[in-house]
Amino acid sequence: MTIAPVQRNASLGSSAWTDARLIMALEEVVETELNRHLKVAKDWMPHEFVPWSQGRDFDGVLGGEAWAVEQSKVTPLGRVSLVVNLLTEDNLPSYHHEIATMFGREGAWGTWVHRWTAEEGRHGIAIRDYLLATRAVDPNELERARMSHMSEGFESDNSHSMLQSVAYVAFQELATRISHRNTGHSSGDPLCDQLLAKIANDENLHMVFYRNLLKAALEIAPDQAMRAIADVVTDFRMPGHGIPGFERAAAQIAIGGVYNLRIHHDDVLQPVLRHLKVMEIGGLGPDGLRAQDELGVFLGGLDAQATKFDERQAALLARRAARKAAQ
Ligand SMILES: [Fe+2]
Ligand SMILES: [Fe+2]
Repeated sequence: MTIAPVQRNASLGSSAWTDARLIMALEEVVETELNRHLKVAKDWMPHEFVPWSQGRDFDGVLGGEAWAVEQSKVTPLGRVSLVVNLLTEDNLPSYHHEIATMFGREGAWGTWVHRWTAEEGRHGIAIRDYLLATRAVDPNELERARMSHMSEGFESDNSHSMLQSVAYVAFQELATRISHRNTGHSSGDPLCDQLLAKIANDENLHMVFYRNLLKAALEIAPDQAMRAIADVVTDFRMPGHGIPGFERAAAQIAIGGVYNLRIHHDDVLQPVLRHLKVMEIGGLGPDGLRAQDELGVFLGGLDAQATKFDERQAALLARRAARKAAQ
C-alpha cells in the first residue's frame, strides 16, 4: 500500500486545502483505518442466512406457483422496509462510481473503495436471496422497481466536495445501519432479523471508518470540515430517495418506527456529532464558527420537529389501536 507524503502539519491556510491536497493528506489516515477495518471485519457467508428449503419455482418459465402475499410471514412494514433497503443497496454500481471518482482507485484510498464495494455487494445479494426464497415480496414488482431505480442511477448531492462526501457517508452509513437493524426487528421473522443484524454490523464498521476519517479532516482543515458537516446535516437525504413510491414507503417506515425524524436526530446525527465533539471544537475561524452556529440552530429545530412527529405518531397509533379494538 502506498503511503503518500503526509502534510497534516503543514502550515497551510484553509484556502489551500483543495480536494486533491486533502486526499493526499488523508491517505495515511485511510491506510491506518483500512488496516484497522480489515482486522475487525469478519467475513460472513450470505447464503447461510437464506432458508433455501422454503424456496420453490415461480410461475413463468418453470410453470411454478405465482406469488401471493399470504405465502410470507414477513409483516407489511417489514416488506416495505426490506424493499426500500434492497433497492438502496442495488444502486451499488452508482455509489462505486461516485466514490471511485472522488477518492480514486490508487493506493490506500483505492483499496478501501474496492473493499467497501465488495462488502456492500453481499448486502443486496443476501437480502434478495432471502426475499425470493421466502416469497416475502412480489418478485415481478421487485424486478421492475430495480430496473427503474437503477436506470435512473444515483448522483450524490455532495460530489462537488471531498469533505462533504466524507461527512455524508459518515452519517449515511449509520443511517443505513439503523434502518437495517430496525427493519429486522419489525420483520416478524427471527431469521430476517439475524440477517439484517449481520448487514447492520457491516454498515457500522463503514460508519466508523468514515467517522474517523472525518475526525482527521476536522484536525487538518477544521473550518472547511465544519462547513461540510453543517451543509450535509442541514440538507441530508437518504440515498434511496429516487426509489419509485419512495415518499409513501418513507411515510410508512416513519410511522412504523423503522426510520423517522426522532431516530434520525437521536440515533444517527447526534452519536456522530457527539463522538467528534463537533459542537465543542474551539479555535475555529469565522467560517468554521458560522457553520458551527448554523448546525446548532438546525439541530435545535430538528429536535423540536422530531417532538412534533413523535406526538403525531403517538396519536395516529392510538387511533389505529382504538379502531382495531372497536372491530
Ligand atoms: Fe449496505
Ligand atoms: Fe455500508
